[in-house]
Amino acid sequence: MADLLKLGVLISGNGSNLQSIIDNIEKGSLKASIKIVISNNPDAFGLTRAKKHGIPFIVLKHTNFKNKEDFDSELVRILKSNNVDLVILAGFMRILTPVLLKAFPRRIMNIHPALLPSFPGLHSQKQAVDYGVKISGCTVHFVDEGVDTGPIIIQSAVPVLDDDTEETLAARILKEEHRIYPQAIQLFADGSLETDGRKVKIKNNK
Ligand code: GRF
Repeated sequence: MADLLKLGVLISGNGSNLQSIIDNIEKGSLKASIKIVISNNPDAFGLTRAKKHGIPFIVLKHTNFKNKEDFDSELVRILKSNNVDLVILAGFMRILTPVLLKAFPRRIMNIHPALLPSFPGLHSQKQAVDYGVKISGCTVHFVDEGVDTGPIIIQSAVPVLDDDTEETLAARILKEEHRIYPQAIQLFADGSLETDGRKVKIKNNK
């Protein structure tokens, strides 16, 4: 059997995307293994999820570091010592510095709860409701030096209903997040993602 793609998952909170990755691995639809979960927040519920599934985890409080670069250097050290191939940001509320980006070129993915380039940054679902768009969704992308600007891998759209609140829209989007994030990771694992500038093409090489 070919070596499984080794993931390092970075979280800050609930970790429902982490859970969907775990579930897809356990049911065999995602051929990868999570080597380490790292949270900058000691109270993240995602840590409980990792523990329940016997996945190693580490809390790394960013407040214990004198700057973002030092924090990222320690992340790199932990990820490399776990032989991580692909870094998965799953609700990780820190902006990465070049220290981490350079250590994993085109090997860091993020999921964002809007159809980028619309509504980058925080509170995307509220931004979408307030703006009055009729369609929103989620985006899996490679991470670059900007905020939510990296090459787009997969997107999924959902309707925005007249009576939606930030919460109801977020719940509808989250269901799609849980579907497409494992899919994007599997495409990476299959070697099916070809990057051409800022375009990601999905090759059918099966
Ligand atoms: C998700 O909406 C994700 O798109 C955003 O942060 C949220 C994390 O949710 N980046 P969870 O921690 O995976 O439940």
